[in-house]
Amino acid sequence: MHACKQGEEDSVRRTWNEVDQYLTDLLVPPEPALDAALAAIAAANLPAQSVSPLQGKLLHLLARISQARQILEIGTLGGYSAIWLARALQSGGRLITLERNPRHAAIARENIARAGLADVVDVRLGRALDSLALIEMQGLAPFDLIFIDADKVNNPAYLAWALKLSRPGSVIVIDNVVRGGAITDAADAFPGIQGTRRMFELIANTPGLSATALQTVGRKGYDGFAIAIVGTGAPR
Ligand code: SAH
Ligand code: DHB
Ligand code: MG
Repeated sequence: MHACKQGEEDSVRRTWNEVDQYLTDLLVPPEPALDAALAAIAAANLPAQSVSPLQGKLLHLLARISQARQILEIGTLGGYSAIWLARALQSGGRLITLERNPRHAAIARENIARAGLADVVDVRLGRALDSLALIEMQGLAPFDLIFIDADKVNNPAYLAWALKLSRPGSVIVIDNVVRGGAITDAADAFPGIQGTRRMFELIANTPGLSATALQTVGRKGYDGFAIAIVGTGAPR
């Protein structure tokens, strides 16, 4: 990239980071268990794919607003978003989170235990598509809130499962739906982009599923969330 353009881009990113820090300092008070989870995730060299503190707080608020008692998360990593969500559960509530990488799951379990949430969070090791089928067979649905944040190529299948495992009024949140703007590129070679595009088409073609998407900037760059509420099947 041209040196001058690169300079402009650096300055924009610096602003995103400064505003992210400013808002985090004021709105997300330090919380030992969450801070320790992020430190452990970094120390273990897990990918820097946890939601940011402000985004974690958004998930937490959505779970509280919807008074969630049963939460399902697809894609655990080190348990950072799971801790945010589990801390929003109504008393007696539970969260199931799905992770295929044994190292990630082990670190998540440690972080969740340190947060005092081992009794309410069930980290299930395995391919999410397998775990979802088992969850259905075990009669653990419906979930009040479902957070989809795993391999983006499977986003259409995860959305279909979320619809199967939900009820009218359930909230579905999907992470990383903008990817620096790549989402509008129908020819993008990355399978994850095609997966998320197919997922948006499925949302658009599901009667009664009411959705929006927010473009986000901040310490995680330029990305976005989709947020949907399950309907009764009738359009509105
Ligand atoms: N929600 C986490 C971040 C998840 S990163 C947070 O914000 O804290 C995505 C995770 O999904 C990774 O840990 C990855 O190992 C896991 N994953 C990817 N494909 C998967 C699959 N098919 N089944 C289950 N987990 C998967
Ligand atoms: C990335 C970020 C995420 O939140 C995620 O779920 C996967 C990948 C990333 O920054 O590459
Ligand atoms: Mg993500």
